[in-house]
Amino acid sequence: DKGTYPFYMLKEIDEQPNVMRKLSQVYLNDDGTPVINADLLDAIKSADRLYIVAAGTSYHAGLVGAKLFESLAGVPTEVHVSSEFAYNQPLLSKKPFFIFLTQSGETADSREVLLNVNEQKFPSLTITNVPNSTLSREATYTLLLHAGPEIAVASTKAYTAQIALQAILAKALGEADDQAAAKDFDVKQQLALVANGMQALVDEKATFDKLAKSALLHTPNAFYIGRGLDYAVSLETALKLKEISYVQAEGFASGELKHGTIALIEKDTPVIGIITQQKTAGLTRSNLQEVAARGAKTITIVTDALAKPDDTIVLPTVDERMTALLSVVPGQLLAYYTSLNKGLDVDKPRNLAKSVTVE
Ligand code: F6R
Repeated sequence: DKGTYPFYMLKEIDEQPNVMRKLSQVYLNDDGTPVINADLLDAIKSADRLYIVAAGTSYHAGLVGAKLFESLAGVPTEVHVSSEFAYNQPLLSKKPFFIFLTQSGETADSREVLLNVNEQKFPSLTITNVPNSTLSREATYTLLLHAGPEIAVASTKAYTAQIALQAILAKALGEADDQAAAKDFDVKQQLALVANGMQALVDEKATFDKLAKSALLHTPNAFYIGRGLDYAVSLETALKLKEISYVQAEGFASGELKHGTIALIEKDTPVIGIITQQKTAGLTRSNLQEVAARGAKTITIVTDALAKPDDTIVLPTVDERMTALLSVVPGQLLAYYTSLNKGLDVDKPRNLAKSVTVE
């Protein structure tokens, strides 16, 4: 039931602070130590490499997750698109462990990989929102997202839930392995900060409505750019914009623009820069100046700690490894209001289905 909301998507965007709190309750003790099945932890610990396999938005959540597993647990992690991996399996490490990210638990492309993985007798974990879903039943282990049903075709709360749960799992793994980075990382406190930060963003709906109207409503195309984690989020926010507002959008590694794509920049082309990583903030700002000099309409989404007076949207500061959970929200809301202001059916974009059960 969407209650007083015009569309499920907005309701689901609004639910994200509570999803963060729920994951914290389910998977963390009061003292912040993770509660994760010991067999699962042992199985992952004995692997020499993680392979995250997923499609669409879940793939984008995996890109963020990989950085968490590498930085908190010190385990090399690859992320793959299911439909590619299924028929072009790369050379694997000696002891691979597979993580399937899938909101629905029914995505045929991901299932095809799981069937291959099972045939090769490799252990696997499905992270899903749907108990008893096909990928949950067929993997060795399951962790549930507890995000509540996601009805809108465009995924929002499942993306942030997948990232939060991967952060918890990475913390658990790193701690089990006595890694300092994991021991020093207070995931419980971070998720509380994230929940509050998300709330502050979703309370600013009028700002995003206005920005969508001025920057995105009449444009044929748009770019999201960033580096590292901000690049991963730019892929997701571009996908959101494409699928529900039909604006041709690309997420781009900001350093790559000048190697070709900058030719597409015209007067008033929207270029949205995501800046949450201290190390690369200055570089992405230079890239924004390059496109502004060619007429682009630049918009910035920046964490408080890195903000300058002219920035468009300022995000509350959280640990740099967790910023994706906040920087994605403006992109979700901008996509929503662009679609809404175009009079489109936000929850049911053309040509798309909620769960994609054919390859
Ligand atoms: C985009 C979207 C899709 C799904 C993809 C995978 O908003 O919803 O890209 O993320 O079809 O679906 P799941 O996660 O159910 O495997």
